[in-house]
Amino acid sequence: MKKPITIAVVGSGYVGLVAAVSFAEIGHQVICVDNDEQKVKALQEGDTLIHEEHLPELLDRYRNKEVRFTKDLAQATRHCDAIFIAVGTPQNETGDADLSYVEAVTAEIARSIRGYPVIVEKSTVPVYTNEWIRKTMERNGVSRSLFDVVSNPEFLREGTAISDFLHPDRIVVGSNSTRATQLLHEIYHPLTSGEYYRRVDAIPGHRNTAAPPPLLDTSTKSAEIIKHASNAFLALKISFSTRLRISAKPPTPT
Ligand SMILES: NC(=O)c1ccc[n+]([C@@H]2O[C@H](COP(=O)([O-])OP(=O)(O)OC[C@H]3O[C@@H](n4cnc5c(N)ncnc54)[C@H](O)[C@@H]3O)[C@@H](O)[C@H]2O)c1
Repeated sequence: MKKPITIAVVGSGYVGLVAAVSFAEIGHQVICVDNDEQKVKALQEGDTLIHEEHLPELLDRYRNKEVRFTKDLAQATRHCDAIFIAVGTPQNETGDADLSYVEAVTAEIARSIRGYPVIVEKSTVPVYTNEWIRKTMERNGVSRSLFDVVSNPEFLREGTAISDFLHPDRIVVGSNSTRATQLLHEIYHPLTSGEYYRRVDAIPGHRNTAAPPPLLDTSTKSAEIIKHASNAFLALKISFSTRLRISAKPPTPT
């Protein structure tokens, strides 16, 4: 039997938690990390902390088996195949993305890894962050040949997050390494091959075996900018629909 892919997801918030249970749902072995002790304890005890359709049932299926929760980032990331970084990147006072959480996590990964992992940038970050993560790893003493960094932006919407993750419009993989690209293809293979949708207990959604999601291979910078283009397009659609609704209002009697 094929060995399951081992994945560490760093950050057990909206994106990290949804990714973790969804990766378990498609057959991988996942360890989900957070530095918030109370959050980790709650998740270990089965509290989902956020309201998302299908999250309680997936957490019930995999909690403390295929998905484990921990505060110990070093231990979690030491021997896994892929490390997904899904920590927050809030705006700072200048309007830029605050990358301090990503930097802290990267430095800790650099101190812990043994063997070759693929580090996957899942958080929404500015273009060039992929290279910056690579340089941060090197600055912390890890040789370039011992890891790769891939950009795999997330497009889920809060409210339909699990179904968006398992039935995505597209999966974007930005990579400059054949080895890392291959691992990402293997991770998403149950979705891109349509295999997952054949299961009777698959989470329902708009994808099926005849129409599985496409996986788009791009450069790291293209993947980073695709996420921003997608967010900008979404914002434009929302602002147009709001304007239309306002202009469709009947005139107020004067
Ligand atoms: N929420 C969404 O709908 C959504 C969709 C797509 C992309 N994103 C992007 O994904 C990223 C994560 O977003 P989110 O909504 O999941 O954020 P979140 O705030 O819900 O979760 C982030 C988690 O990371 C943890 N964390 C912070 N520093 C850590 C560290 N050093 N070690 C371990 N854990 C740490 C926090 O405790 C928190 O639980 C952001 O870049 C966001 O822009 C969010």
